[in-house]
Amino acid sequence: MTEIFTKIVGTGSYLPSKVLTNDDLSKMVETSDEWIFPRTGIKERHIADDNELTSDLATNAAKRALESSNVKAEDIDLIILATTTPDLSFPSTACRVQANLGCVNAAAFDMQAVCSGFIYALTVADKMIKSGEYKKALVIGAETLSRIVDWNDRTTCVLFGDGAGAVVVEATTEKTGILSSIIKADPSYYDILKTTGGVSATKNAGSIYMEGKEVFKLAVSKMPEVSAEAVKNAGLSLSDVDCFIPHQANVRIIDAALKHLDIAEEKTVKTLQNQGNTSAASIPIALDWAVRNGMLKKGNNALLTAMGGGFTWGAVVFKF
Ligand code: ACO
Repeated sequence: MTEIFTKIVGTGSYLPSKVLTNDDLSKMVETSDEWIFPRTGIKERHIADDNELTSDLATNAAKRALESSNVKAEDIDLIILATTTPDLSFPSTACRVQANLGCVNAAAFDMQAVCSGFIYALTVADKMIKSGEYKKALVIGAETLSRIVDWNDRTTCVLFGDGAGAVVVEATTEKTGILSSIIKADPSYYDILKTTGGVSATKNAGSIYMEGKEVFKLAVSKMPEVSAEAVKNAGLSLSDVDCFIPHQANVRIIDAALKHLDIAEEKTVKTLQNQGNTSAASIPIALDWAVRNGMLKKGNNALLTAMGGGFTWGAVVFKF
């Protein structure tokens, strides 16, 4: 039987127009740009209007991805949308996006793996395409994290932002596209990064709670470890990586990862300065930025890695 591969044929992203700077935050809580920027690498983040939903951000990103791929909405047969901040508890936000785009022939569902959501969604899309049953998929990461941030908690509110990114992937028999992917989870760290509520537990969404130092320690060990494993599984070595796109949570975590992996700074995509941590949206936003700014070119090998609440983590290696 001919082997099927999953190729990324289009990318898109969208950020809400409203910008909240570190100086703006210093008027809301006791903080400052001098505290935030050196510790996180973040200068500003985008915040969705009250009437702008996760599905709206996702739709805009997906439209751009479809445009860049020349794939028609009706030819998409699968939509997977990674989010922690769905429009409603149900139906899925993916179904709302399906309606907005007119993807009338698609199966659609949401994926919840917090900041690792896009890596999980891309991995699942790859497996479904490899099964031969699906040919063209939209994989989206979209968040309105501003809705679940406690704006009185300076230890977390400075970190997060809203946004969406998307890719169009399609089946090919060429040996290109996704070469390896790994997803992992370890519930022993369930309580160090979570919300204080949820539909079943408290009948509301709660707000973000994080033990920052513990999260930091896990991130700097798990992301390099899984990245090295994924590169090996792809039959490559770390020196073959042309573009490294890690989860955009904290520049110190990214710098520790690239040092650990011995990947050059100039091959590493950093978009968090103007976006903050957009959870499941962070990798597809950074990926789209890398494509549109010439950092990721046709034929390049790219490495994506993320970690998030759960704990969940993973990595994807693909030839673009
Ligand atoms: N402004 C000013 N002071 C602050 C702020 C703030 N925004 N936040 C905390 N402080 C204070 C604290 O109250 C504390 O004061 P104290 O010493 O008087 O008690 C002091 O600064 C140090 O606080 P720490 O929490 O120890 O600060 P730390 O150096 O660990 O930095 C940070 C905090 C930046 C969050 C760090 O732990 C971190 O980067 N963690 C990684 C977590 C991360 O990036 N998560 C992203 C979400 S998770 C994900 O994407 C998977």
